[in-house]
Amino acid sequence: MLQSVVDVLACPHCGQGLAAAEGSLRCPVGHTFDLAKQGYVSLLAGAGTGIDGDDAAMVAARHEVLEAGHYTPVGEHVAREAARVTPAGGAVLDVGAGTGYYLREALAGCPDSPGVALDVSKYACRRAAKADPRIGAVLADAWRALPLLDGSVSTVLNVFAPRHAAEMARVLRPGGHLVVVTPEPRHLVSLVDRLGLITVDERKRQRLDEQLGDRFEPVTSSEVTFGLSLSLGEAEAVAAMGPSARHVAAAELRDRLAELPEPVETTAAVTATTYRLRTSID
Ligand SMILES: C[S@@+](CC[C@H](N)C(=O)[O-])C[C@H]1O[C@@H](n2cnc3c(N)ncnc32)[C@H](O)[C@@H]1O
Ligand SMILES: [Zn+2]
Repeated sequence: MLQSVVDVLACPHCGQGLAAAEGSLRCPVGHTFDLAKQGYVSLLAGAGTGIDGDDAAMVAARHEVLEAGHYTPVGEHVAREAARVTPAGGAVLDVGAGTGYYLREALAGCPDSPGVALDVSKYACRRAAKADPRIGAVLADAWRALPLLDGSVSTVLNVFAPRHAAEMARVLRPGGHLVVVTPEPRHLVSLVDRLGLITVDERKRQRLDEQLGDRFEPVTSSEVTFGLSLSLGEAEAVAAMGPSARHVAAAELRDRLAELPEPVETTAAVTATTYRLRTSID
């Protein structure tokens, strides 16, 4: 793990900085965290919260869809925004990073920046640790205190992931930015309807403003809309990587897929908003 990644991390027990020792990270008090052989470090505090994040099949499905380039317009948007708002060498944190795809894209536009991929799924952390040499992957729960030092990162990414506004604000340096991507109600709607998947909450936008408004000021927002042309296998992967994976039985899904013409055409619609951290006098 890069020294510049270790420099932004904090001990989940005492909040102090960490130093790299052989095969582990260690705080001044002596709390020690082993680097997994797959390249990530677990900074989960205490007993598990019962949140495991995405399972192996969901992460594999997401990897397949993203690496096939189906979400390239979103990746390009995130990369452009990260490059625009991140000062040279500033650290980028991706909360709920999944496979590390968006963080890797973001770092491509920030040539001197280290990246932290934070996810509660060990399967996601394994992938993210390998996504780019500048990425350090951290197993942690985004609903708890994030294991990062106050004001240590320049940019936070949050793509289809849990948003703990107070913690994302705490770890950002003054003037730092947050790039959020959320699905629109019509995201993949034709596929969602035909496969009986879960639909997006219509009130999501309002909830987002309520969640972030106190601490973050929107700077730019745009809708990114694009067509997807999927093989049946990829359509299955799109279903398997989303929230419906836990609710629709695999056999039922396959029955419904078998009735679709190939390629499966659908439309992705997401909103990407860049926020600036408010100062206390804003
Ligand atoms: C819909 S996926 C998005 C992944 C990635 N941002 C992307 O768009 O490819 C949501 C991710 O958040 C992770 N996640 C869910 N709950 C979490 C939590 N409490 N803390 C950290 N990560 C969490 C899941 O494991 C999963 O990787
Ligand atoms: Zn400690």
